[in-house]
Amino acid sequence: MSFVRNLVGAAILSLPGMAVAQLPVYLDDTKPMEDRIEDALSRMTLEEKVAMCHAQSKFSSPGVPRLGLPENWMTDGPHGIRAEVAWDEWDQAGWTNDSCMAFPALTCLAATWNPEMSLLYGKSIGEEARYRNKNVLLGPGVNIYRTPLNGRNFEYMGEDPYLAAEMVVPYIEGVQSNGVAACVKHYALNNQEHDRLQIDVEVSDRALYEIYLPAFKAAVQRGKAWSIMGAYNRYKEQFCCHNQYLLNDILRNEWGFDGVVVSDWGGVHDTKESAYHGLDMEFGTWTDGLTVNTSDAYNHYYLARPFLELLKDGTIPVSVVDDKVRNILRLMYRTTMNRNRPYGSFKSPEHAAAARQIAEEGIVLLQNKDNVLPIRLDETRKILVVGENAIKMMTVGGGSSSLKAWYEISPLDGLRARVGDAAEVEYARGYVGNTDGSYNGVVSKVDLSESRSAEELLDEAVSKAREADYVIFVGGLNKNEHQDCEGGDRESYALPYNQDRVIEALAQVNPKTIVVLISGNSVAMPWVDKVPAIVEGWYCGSEAGNALASVLVGDVNPSGKLPFTMGVELDDYHAHALNDPMVYPGVDHKQVYKDDIFVGYRWSDLQKGKAPLFAFGHGLSYTTFEYGKATIDRKQMHVGDTLRVRVSVKNTGARAGAEIVQLYVADLKSSLPRPKKELKGFDKIYLQPGETGEVEFLLDKSSLSYFDDKKHEWVAEPGKFEVLIGASSRDIKSKVGFELK
Ligand code: BGC
Repeated sequence: MSFVRNLVGAAILSLPGMAVAQLPVYLDDTKPMEDRIEDALSRMTLEEKVAMCHAQSKFSSPGVPRLGLPENWMTDGPHGIRAEVAWDEWDQAGWTNDSCMAFPALTCLAATWNPEMSLLYGKSIGEEARYRNKNVLLGPGVNIYRTPLNGRNFEYMGEDPYLAAEMVVPYIEGVQSNGVAACVKHYALNNQEHDRLQIDVEVSDRALYEIYLPAFKAAVQRGKAWSIMGAYNRYKEQFCCHNQYLLNDILRNEWGFDGVVVSDWGGVHDTKESAYHGLDMEFGTWTDGLTVNTSDAYNHYYLARPFLELLKDGTIPVSVVDDKVRNILRLMYRTTMNRNRPYGSFKSPEHAAAARQIAEEGIVLLQNKDNVLPIRLDETRKILVVGENAIKMMTVGGGSSSLKAWYEISPLDGLRARVGDAAEVEYARGYVGNTDGSYNGVVSKVDLSESRSAEELLDEAVSKAREADYVIFVGGLNKNEHQDCEGGDRESYALPYNQDRVIEALAQVNPKTIVVLISGNSVAMPWVDKVPAIVEGWYCGSEAGNALASVLVGDVNPSGKLPFTMGVELDDYHAHALNDPMVYPGVDHKQVYKDDIFVGYRWSDLQKGKAPLFAFGHGLSYTTFEYGKATIDRKQMHVGDTLRVRVSVKNTGARAGAEIVQLYVADLKSSLPRPKKELKGFDKIYLQPGETGEVEFLLDKSSLSYFDDKKHEWVAEPGKFEVLIGASSRDIKSKVGFELK
């Protein structure tokens, strides 16, 4: 007696003498995947093929029921698994089993500068997606931080293409180890929310290849992402969801992508372009206003009936739909049809621990005069917490990344839980920001209504601050419209809701006023010299308050560093310094990236005598580190060689801590203008007090190259280079030169 599989893969009993049905190739997992794809394709009708190329509900697309081919189920992404939605609605469906673990926002992950945290993040969120029976996770996002006004920066990994590339790869590997596809977004040039549905971006090939594409390329080639999402905006006057240049020329032909191109929700505008320009699956289309709704809305999609008709009358050859279905089947064999994939897990203690660890590693100590932090609980009677963000739920809102979190520990609750009876933790609201706490039917559990006037709130906070040993102001941005929120950009670089006034007033009466910013973006800090300590606390998800408290009281020694430049003012960002509406925010749906490759520190490095407020790569620790002199294993290098750079780092303080050692390369003389330096390596090293460790970096041609527009290739120009080792982009500890022959 033995068990074999039947046609849909279940084990069936085969008794002696009984014939065992032969598995068709497409169901036989001993056969090569490409053969199975061809076999499945050969059994499908044209209607079935077309059906697979477009949605059947808000987040799903059909399989082929007749053949047992499963549906595809997508979920946002990128910080947790989105609540189940009603079939054809954005609103949550009201299920009671779908409250997820909320992980820190991707800015926080990037701030860990730790690929191991990325892997842990991807693995954990992938397990959640798998458990919830989703086979495509809509994330991670790697659009470059070009302006601090971009409402969606919190979902991305900062301003540097190298950092974003190094961090995105393990995230994808982690997700996909669960048999869930990562869907990297938003490809490409979706660097602002303002006018995102229309804006046509003009950018030099050089900036495209050097700044905006490397993280996507790494996601595809090194991370082996199984899907990618087209952006809403246009490039070369074609929508990115069906864009010959981005999808066919670059993604498929140059990079060899064999996965699925998914449209952004409502990003498709044309049947023929979608057919020919690289799109595989259409989602969220609002054709003729159909999101608001007809009974067969999905048949009106560009890749639905209109596509079928053009295939039937021979206008579009069947090979076009076959190619799309091949990609979709490949996705399915890698996910739902992989019988060996794990089962996942949901809101496990391990996921809580992962969320907390990532948050603790990502929180950035920006300033800490006189070592005012960590809070010394043994000398503390009373801590005053001020600010709306100390109590506001940040997992609700912000657009498609909004979550129905299983729980969310607020900064106030986290601090109270940690401090316990050691001291009194008082709270004062200080200001009222935005009291709305609902998104797509998910309602925040915190009531933020407040009837007192701004003056009354300020007076209360100030008088309590006089009595406190420490004042922790927890403010920043939030997930409401025109803050850190999809669909629009911020309207100003300043902190909203008069928070500056509150901070100044608190600092005047209490010298130990510590500012914690909860945000995914940089903000103006006119009070920077008036407060001793500033912490970038990001949006940290379920474990936010616990992670923040552990940093504030010193259970955790902060080790995060900024993944983007924090400017003093908007003009510290090139896109704004040019003071040209064509550069930002665009004119008549058109935008020209005249800032070119000089984005972030690549721009601020050129501003003589003007330092950013907090530089790219900056972040402090409760201990101190001393760098040795960097050494290289050769003074001359040829293309094809690998250069070895070493530097020692000593923990010279009294506590264990971690330092992120950064390596920048400077091309001392080049035929094209180049940034003063570019990040080409980093490593996070953990050291006990007094311990010395060594960090090693390997450089090759790719570390030295620029993209030559004219030749359309990467060029490493012979000549003198310098390796700069730094604790930030502005804190260079050691330099060493070499020559490329
Ligand atoms: C966003 C995507 C998201 C999709 C589905 C769009 O509005 O741009 O990032 O994955 O909606 O919710």
